Amino acid sequence: MPKKIRLGILGGGGDSLIGILHRVASQINDNYEIVGAVFSPEHQESIDFAHEIDIPTNRIYKDFDMLIEEELKLPEDKRIQVCSVQTPNFLHFPMAKKLLDNGFHVICEKPMTMNYEEAKVLADAHEKSGKVFALTHTYTGYPMVRQMREMIKAGALGKIHKVDARYYQGWINTIIHDKEKRSSVWRLDPTKAGISSCMGDIGVHAFNLVEFTTGLKIKSLLCDFNYLYEDNQMDVDGTVLIRMDNHVKGVIRSSQVATGEENGLAIAIYGEKGAFRWEQERPNFLYKLSDTEPLQVYKPGHAYNSELSLSGTKLPPGHPEGIFDSMANIYLGAAKAIRGEKYNSGEFPTMKDGVHGMNFIESTVASHKKGNVWIDLD
Ligand SMILES: NC(=O)c1ccc[n+]([C@@H]2O[C@H](COP(=O)([O-])OP(=O)(O)OC[C@H]3O[C@@H](n4cnc5c(N)ncnc54)[C@H](O)[C@@H]3O)[C@@H](O)[C@H]2O)c1
Repeated sequence: MPKKIRLGILGGGGDSLIGILHRVASQINDNYEIVGAVFSPEHQESIDFAHEIDIPTNRIYKDFDMLIEEELKLPEDKRIQVCSVQTPNFLHFPMAKKLLDNGFHVICEKPMTMNYEEAKVLADAHEKSGKVFALTHTYTGYPMVRQMREMIKAGALGKIHKVDARYYQGWINTIIHDKEKRSSVWRLDPTKAGISSCMGDIGVHAFNLVEFTTGLKIKSLLCDFNYLYEDNQMDVDGTVLIRMDNHVKGVIRSSQVATGEENGLAIAIYGEKGAFRWEQERPNFLYKLSDTEPLQVYKPGHAYNSELSLSGTKLPPGHPEGIFDSMANIYLGAAKAIRGEKYNSGEFPTMKDGVHGMNFIESTVASHKKGNVWIDLD
């Protein structure tokens, strides 16, 4: 067994939504050891949290500049090798860039940056660094999403006709209708979230799933947003018509005001020979539809699945694995890349996905603001 990879964490403190997912995921396959962190902008809070989760506090730094400065003083075989960036969006770019510039590998939350320009600058820094950059589009780690990708690649659907992806949540309903509350949430503050709330936060996952599973790129789009209130600068709902390679057309629907919806990410891909349908809230069922044959249901862990899908399951069929395992699969892929081992390109989303994701988000905003016009992506 190779030595554990020394992992640093930025953000993801005790008050965060996503920190627990990253921490658990990083431990699931026994590849990482958390050795340093800045869990919070308040140093004492970071230290208290380190005590709470029982990790040594000697490398809990005041801020990320200090983390880099102090870690660089350590011998290479003690130093953090990879940092996982789990802060609100506005810190992804400065943190990831400085980490890459100083020779650290990076695992980064989405949306990758605040805008497309930053994404391109980060891509340059990444190329110069030669380091691993993994973007945590969590849902690509699900075995049945991977299975869909591999079967589509092998021609199971024939020529694809139509793609329909949606990501519906309702949580912002409890905030958006109250003027006071809506000014207190970072996801509705453009200085912290970036140019988009709904499309940047969740629509981009649907975008990524569409490209990940079909292997096709979105070429142009037309978007219609809803902001609900005039003083709200950030979209909370949006519908995007898309045109992809090979004349494939489709739609990406995204909402934070879809009342009662929890984490309703779903994708359907229709082709000349059949279709796939998958839903995040029931991730272990992949439906294959046909006009001429009975409905088929694929499930994880069976030998009929692809190597990429099977590499994402740890237990025999019938033992449900979920979101922690899905994120763990991304950490596993990143670990292989960091160690210089062979890995499948479907094992983790990369800088390229992040750059195209920011191109997508910025284009949705431009399309809406210009009066719902078609915009070409790069
Ligand atoms: N991949 C996914 O499925 C997924 C799901 C949820 C959130 N996210 C992304 O994860 C990121 C964090 O989201 P969240 O919901 O956990 O946010 P959150 O507001 O719940 O938590 C943010 C954490 O970052 C810490 N933080 C803030 N400023 C910091 C600084 N200067 N230095 C160090 N730590 C700092 C806060 O103390 C907090 O612990 C966002 O970019 C979001 O888009 C991704």
